[in-house]
Amino acid sequence: MKSVIVVVLASIVSAAVLAALHPGALGAQSPDGRAVFLANCTTCHSPNGEGGGPYPPLAANADVNQIDSANLIRVVLDGRTGPVTVDGTQYGGDMPAWRAQLSDAQIAAVLSYIRSAWGNDAPSVSPNQVAAAREPEALSGSAIFTLKCAACHLATGGGTVDFPALAGDAIVTSASPGSMLEIIVNGRTGPVMIDGKMYDGIMPAWPGQLTDADLAALATYLRTNWGNRAAPVTEKDVVTAGASITLRIGESLFANNCAACHGSAGQGGTGPALAGSPRVTSDDPGTMLATIMQGRGLMPSWRGQLSAGEVAAVATFIRSSWGNNAGPVTVEDVTAIR
Ligand code: HEC
Ligand code: HEC
Ligand code: HEC
Repeated sequence: MKSVIVVVLASIVSAAVLAALHPGALGAQSPDGRAVFLANCTTCHSPNGEGGGPYPPLAANADVNQIDSANLIRVVLDGRTGPVTVDGTQYGGDMPAWRAQLSDAQIAAVLSYIRSAWGNDAPSVSPNQVAAAREPEALSGSAIFTLKCAACHLATGGGTVDFPALAGDAIVTSASPGSMLEIIVNGRTGPVMIDGKMYDGIMPAWPGQLTDADLAALATYLRTNWGNRAAPVTEKDVVTAGASITLRIGESLFANNCAACHGSAGQGGTGPALAGSPRVTSDDPGTMLATIMQGRGLMPSWRGQLSAGEVAAVATFIRSSWGNNAGPVTVEDVTAIR
C-alpha cells in the first residue's frame, strides 16, 4: 500500500512541477469552458443559460451559485432525473451524465464558466475537485481512510490500546467539525485523555496529500460510519474551518505549485521574492490576487487550476510566512477578482 501512495504522490508532484516549469504548455492544455458549454450543453440550457421548457436555467440559479461545488460536480458527472425546483418553478427531465465524454479539466472548465457567466458569481472549480468526485464521496472517503488511517485506528474505527477509537468519538461526531479537521490536517502529539483513557502517540499530519475535497470526503466518512451519525462535511466547511487549517493547506499548495519558481522559503528564483514583497503584504490583497488569478508574463494563471478556497489558502500563507505579517485572504476576496 505504501508504494501505491508513493506512486500516486510522485505523479501528482511531477505533474505539478512540469506544469510549473512549462506554463505555456499548461495554458495550452487547459480547456475553454465556454467552448465546452457551447458544444455540449446549449441544446437544453440555451446559449445564454436561460434554459426553457423542461430544462432549468443555469443563469441566476442559486444551485449553480453555491460556494460549495460538490453537488454541481456530481450532477454533471452522473446526470440526474428531475424534477428540480429553481426559483419557484419546477423543471423535469433527464440531465445526461458526462463522466465518459468529458475529462476532469473539461468539467472543471465548463463549471467554472457557468459559475461566472450571465451574472453568476461563484468560486471556480478545479480539476482536482472533479477527480476526487469521480469516486462517490463515501467511497473515496473510505478509500482514503483505508490507505492512511486504518493502520492505526483499525478498519472498524474501533482503535487499540495505543490508538483511540473514532467510532463514537466526541470530537469526530461533534456538531462542528472544526476540531477534528484541525487534528487531521495539523496532526497532534499526545499525551491526551480521550473518553477516560490516556493515549501518548503521534497522530501524523498529511502535508500536501489531502485536498479540500479529500478532507471533506474523509471527514464525512468518519462522521457517518460505524454508528456515527453526525452531519456530512462539505468543501465549504473545510475552507472556512479555521486559520490554522487554512495555513497548513496553503503551505502544501505553495510547496506543490509555487515553490519551483518562487523558492521554498519565498526567496525568489524564476519568479520574484515573495518574502518582503510590498505587493504581497499590502493591506489590500487585490493586486496580488489579480496576478495569481490572471497570470502575468511567466507567472501562470491559476484560475480553473486552484479553487477559490485554495487560492485564499495559498495567499493567506504567503502573506504570513517568512517574516511577512499581513492579514488573511478570504474566499470572497478571491471571487471578487474578475
Ligand atoms: C439533454 C438535455 C441536457 C443537456 C444536453 C444538458 N443538460 Fe443539464 N440539465 C438538464 C435537465 C433536464 C436538468 C434538470 C435535472 C433535474 O431535474 O434534476 C439539468 C440540470 C443541470 C444542472 C443542475 C441545475 C440545478 O438547479 O440543480 C446543471 C449544473 C447542469 N444541468 C449543467 C449542464 C452542463 C454543464 C451541461 C453540458 C456539459 C448540461 N447540463 C447539458 C438537461 C440537460
Ligand atoms: C501512526 C498512527 C496513526 C495514523 C496513521 C492516524 N492516526 Fe489518528 N491518532 C493517532 C493517535 C496516537 C492519536 C491520539 C493522540 C493525539 O491525538 O495526540 C490519534 C488521534 C486522532 C483523532 C482525535 C481523536 C480525539 O478524540 O481526540 C482523530 C480525529 C484522528 N486521529 C483521525 C485520524 C485520521 C482521519 C487518520 C487518517 C487520515 C488518522 N487519524 C491516522 C494515530 C494515528
Ligand atoms: C512558472 C513559474 C511560476 C510559478 C509556478 C508561480 N509563479 Fe508567481 N510569478 C512568477 C513570475 C515570473 C512573476 C512575475 C510576473 C511579472 O511581474 O511579470 C510572478 C509573480 C507573482 C506574484 C506577484 C509578486 C509581486 O511582487 O508583484 C505573486 C503574488 C505570485 N507570483 C504568487 C504565486 C503563487 C501563489 C503561485 C502558486 C500558486 C505562483 N506564484 C506560481 C512565476 C511563477
